[in-house]
Amino acid sequence: MPHSLSDRELYRYAPVLIGTTRFAPLPVTKNILITGGAGFIASWLVRHLTLQYADSYRIVSFDKLDYCASLNNTAILDQCPNFTFVQGDVTKQSDVSAVLKKYDIDTIIHFAAQSHVDLSFGNSLQFTATNVWGTHVLLECARIHGKIKRFLHVSTDEVYGEVKDDEARVESSILAPSNPYAASKAAAEMLVHSYWKSYKLPIIMVRGNNVYGPHQYPEKIIPKFTLLLTRSLPLPLHGTGHHSRHYLYASDATNAFDTLLHLGVPGEIYNIGSRDETTNTQLCVLLLREFSIDGTKEDVFCRWVRHTRDRVFNDRRYAVDSRKLEELGWRPEVGLGEGLRRTVEWYRRWGERWWGDVGGVLVAHPEVVGGKEGTGTVEVGVDDDGEVRLSVDGGLER
Ligand SMILES: NC(=O)c1ccc[n+]([C@@H]2O[C@H](COP(=O)([O-])OP(=O)(O)OC[C@H]3O[C@@H](n4cnc5c(N)ncnc54)[C@H](O)[C@@H]3O)[C@@H](O)[C@H]2O)c1
Repeated sequence: MPHSLSDRELYRYAPVLIGTTRFAPLPVTKNILITGGAGFIASWLVRHLTLQYADSYRIVSFDKLDYCASLNNTAILDQCPNFTFVQGDVTKQSDVSAVLKKYDIDTIIHFAAQSHVDLSFGNSLQFTATNVWGTHVLLECARIHGKIKRFLHVSTDEVYGEVKDDEARVESSILAPSNPYAASKAAAEMLVHSYWKSYKLPIIMVRGNNVYGPHQYPEKIIPKFTLLLTRSLPLPLHGTGHHSRHYLYASDATNAFDTLLHLGVPGEIYNIGSRDETTNTQLCVLLLREFSIDGTKEDVFCRWVRHTRDRVFNDRRYAVDSRKLEELGWRPEVGLGEGLRRTVEWYRRWGERWWGDVGGVLVAHPEVVGGKEGTGTVEVGVDDDGEVRLSVDGGLER
């Protein structure tokens, strides 16, 4: 890679990462809107669908380009005739209805969200504004548009809340979210469900485990710790480090969404689950190993890992049963060891420059980015153009 490259040109030299599945194209689907398309998981699906179905689907990536997004994630597609990027905000009806109309959208895959649990403790009103209100705007615009044949709604395993027992949650388990992020995703699900019941909007609900891999903004644990190790800095581990999570490599998540787009049944809910569960402490050891550091030795571990205060609240673990999705033929292909190897390799090569300066997010508890911390009232009003506006504490004009 030439040193003179600007950050905006990096994408030309990076590998083009997609999933491995390909299905017979859906006859009813021509124009697919993917919200949050410049973010982590959605950009994998944007690249995958654009390249795997080049003769069948036009992909419209719709993103507000929030702090965690990067056009580098999809810039390699700019020359593809079946790809378009549109900058827009899901909380604005005018943006959403315009894109649905202009591109004659028949299929929606809704990823756009505020997705970082840490930030949701200090900025929870922003999470409600984007995840709940934004989803409602999208549903209502889709209903009025009247041409939607499939609508995949991307939710999360966190809506089930903490799983203390060995009973992995199935799709009919009750929802018991315990942090503001998870609660906003569960609240959005209620609206989504109502649009299926009331208007027969053909919704497929998807609840997935943690996803990791290249292209993830380094506020989340795996890319953050990888970049810290690249800088030879210690890892700030929340609390005891005993909390555990299931991790799914991004290409496997991409394959799951591709499977559900083509074989999922409207009105149904599907979990996406990984078999790879690890505590945060074990994860540190695995990442240290990628840097040839033996974290199984206590003194070495103590040198490289610093315990910090825990989150305000931290679910001990989540667990979902994904047999319903596996019955459609999906299986995870990339185990945690191989996935971490690929991820670390990518971040060592590209991660420092992909999003510009990321130094500010490589801390234990990042501050709210891009707005004031909301602690008071949300005002809802209609402006002169008939656009609904949310104002959080008079600070976050949206
Ligand atoms: N990352 C995970 O491990 C995980 C696990 C389960 C579910 N999910 C869900 O998957 C989805 C994507 O997660 P991710 O980790 O890839 O997120 P991300 O934070 O990387 O990307 C979110 C994208 O949404 C965009 N966005 C935010 N607000 C918007 C708005 N108002 N209008 C338009 N675009 C907006 C951002 O610019 C960004 O590109 C989210 O809905 C999240 O809840 C994520």
